Amino acid sequence: MTQNIEDKDNSRSDTLGAADVHLGQGENEKPNHPVRATEAFFGRRKGKPFKAHQAKLYAELLPKLAIDIEAPTCTDLKTLFPDTPEKIVLEIGFGGGEHLIHRAKLHPEIGFIGCEPFMNGMAKALSSIEREALTNIRLFNEDATQLLDWLPEAQIERVDLLYPDPWPKKRHWKRRFVNQKNLGRIHNVISPDGEFRFASDIDTYINWTLKHCDDFKKFKWKATKASDWHEPWEEWYSTRYEQKAIREERTPAYLKFARL
Ligand SMILES: C[S@@+](CC[C@H](N)C(=O)[O-])C[C@H]1O[C@@H](n2cnc3c(N)ncnc32)[C@H](O)[C@@H]1O
Repeated sequence: MTQNIEDKDNSRSDTLGAADVHLGQGENEKPNHPVRATEAFFGRRKGKPFKAHQAKLYAELLPKLAIDIEAPTCTDLKTLFPDTPEKIVLEIGFGGGEHLIHRAKLHPEIGFIGCEPFMNGMAKALSSIEREALTNIRLFNEDATQLLDWLPEAQIERVDLLYPDPWPKKRHWKRRFVNQKNLGRIHNVISPDGEFRFASDIDTYINWTLKHCDDFKKFKWKATKASDWHEPWEEWYSTRYEQKAIREERTPAYLKFARL
């Protein structure tokens, strides 16, 4: 049966309208995986010119925190972090990093991997990491599909895809990050008891994701009542992006999927 918000909320059937760490290998070692061009990033890479300190962080701090996918795949992701975290989570397309930083501050025992190709978003996150002296974040500044292909299997407890680029026009839907191939990639990196989480304010993308996960078969929507997707989950941080959506009277949905 197709997973659909309408199945679980008859009252709204119409408009659910969306350190010193192992980061790389020796210079002479060759990657053990294919390196390829961007597959799923269609946005802009750069906005306003950097201020001097942002440029310095981008040039000096990012290389220390960035995951090097030219290196062979890391067999134990915990070794990417200085304090051996209890578990690892991944946030894809973190924007300015507000949600990522909020969670990383709350959970020094968790290792966070944040992925964002937009350089100004990355620079903003770097400023927060420096200001908060966070040591439990590692970063990737390219298309998430490249990172997902590099990551080892089944070591990530949770993958967050929060307000992915919506591509609301039908002719652009094929650009949406959620597709069968990317669900396969996400599934591959999540641990057996782990979760995939998705949020959006675009009704067609919400139902698109429910349908794609249902077709994929190996992610089960966890909602049992309407509040499960109407209300943000615990430790949610409402970003500027979400605030704008709410101001413009779009209704967000928050979806959790168990990895089967
Ligand atoms: C609409 S914004 C939302 C940002 C943030 N998650 C939030 O809720 O405020 C989507 C973000 O996803 C990023 N993005 C788009 N395609 C991506 C890809 N293939 N890999 C990683 N990030 C991507 C964009 O650069 C953008 O910052």
